[in-house]
Amino acid sequence: MTLVEGSGCFVVTDEGVRLMDLVGGIAVNALGHCHPEVVEAASAQMRRLLHTSNLYYTTPQVELAEALVASAFPGRVFWCNSGAEANEAAIKVARKWGRLHRRGAFTVVTLEGAFHGRTLATLAATGNAHYSDPFRPLPEGFRQVPRGDLAAVERALVDPDRPGVAVLAEPIQGESGVNPLGTEYLVGLRELCDRHRALLILDEVQTGMGRTGTMWAHQAAGIVPDLMTAAKGLGGGLPLGAVLVSKTADCLEPGDHGSTFGGNPVACAAGLAAISVITRDRLFNRAAIAGDQLKEGILGFRAMGLPVADVRGSGLLLGIGLSEPWARELAGVALQEGLLINPIGAATIRLAPPLVISDDEIELALEGLRSSLVRVMRDKGL
Ligand SMILES: Cc1ncc(COP(=O)(O)O)c(C=O)c1O
Repeated sequence: MTLVEGSGCFVVTDEGVRLMDLVGGIAVNALGHCHPEVVEAASAQMRRLLHTSNLYYTTPQVELAEALVASAFPGRVFWCNSGAEANEAAIKVARKWGRLHRRGAFTVVTLEGAFHGRTLATLAATGNAHYSDPFRPLPEGFRQVPRGDLAAVERALVDPDRPGVAVLAEPIQGESGVNPLGTEYLVGLRELCDRHRALLILDEVQTGMGRTGTMWAHQAAGIVPDLMTAAKGLGGGLPLGAVLVSKTADCLEPGDHGSTFGGNPVACAAGLAAISVITRDRLFNRAAIAGDQLKEGILGFRAMGLPVADVRGSGLLLGIGLSEPWARELAGVALQEGLLINPIGAATIRLAPPLVISDDEIELALEGLRSSLVRVMRDKGL
């Protein structure tokens, strides 16, 4: 399928079919498609200055870094172009920090079910054989522990043979099925990192920019990481990634790391417009309210005998757990019903619609999901 246009929560195919987009560019299009303020900011910047190299600062870069810091916690920002690059950079910071402060400890502890990207190091951090096996050998220095088991994290951090220098985790695991780590667990990770002098790196690539009901998902847990990675919605639809490094973790010096296009002024201008609109219009609150409405509506399908087991996630990052492995078929039928939804795994549908979705659009989405589920049941002869 080829998409040629988009506006708000809708896209249009090259055959002129209009679809409601509940995938949102996989959590990129926080403000929907072609938000006028983002388009205007990017266009104006394109006329002014397109690229400079990173030998120099540009105004949009500096302003977006300030906005990012103001939205999260004090620190310095490293700019790159994607989520995987942001995590690579965070891993490099952790390794250098380990050399400086932890006698060369370099092992990064990650969680089962993680997804941190598709470069070799981030594949090693992701630890999912399905993604990484064809590309072995992977870089060393990663150790994966079961999700939800704080004692396993602690054992990994204090292992005398390969002590952990950092824990890398997503507050809500997106790709593996929208599985929240939960407040208690996140607070536990923070405490363990403090106790064992390890860095807490939170991967907010998918959960950030207001999507889960707070500007950054970790804020709901009342904790502050040492490093945070961001991408996806950060560039307002243009490619942009960032690592926000707190004072505790700050150890990169000029020349340690770099990226030709990282922090491109047009992407930063678009990102600055996006973060400004999200903050000004408090779209994280809107995400929380809209997410509850969507969640409630979907859970209501159970009383109609439709195959919904649960709805996971927070705000507008939701995973519909189906009681049958019909996610792909459901996505196919939903497309015919005019809805873009994202099957992940056999029995989960991920929804990451724009945060600007209206009440009426949510009702439309629910009606489309309901009729798609009914059709799948009918196709199965049920
Ligand atoms: C949590 C998380 N981290 C990292 C990435 C990788 O981001 P990118 O595809 O921009 O490299 C993703 C992509 O889905 C993600 O969801």
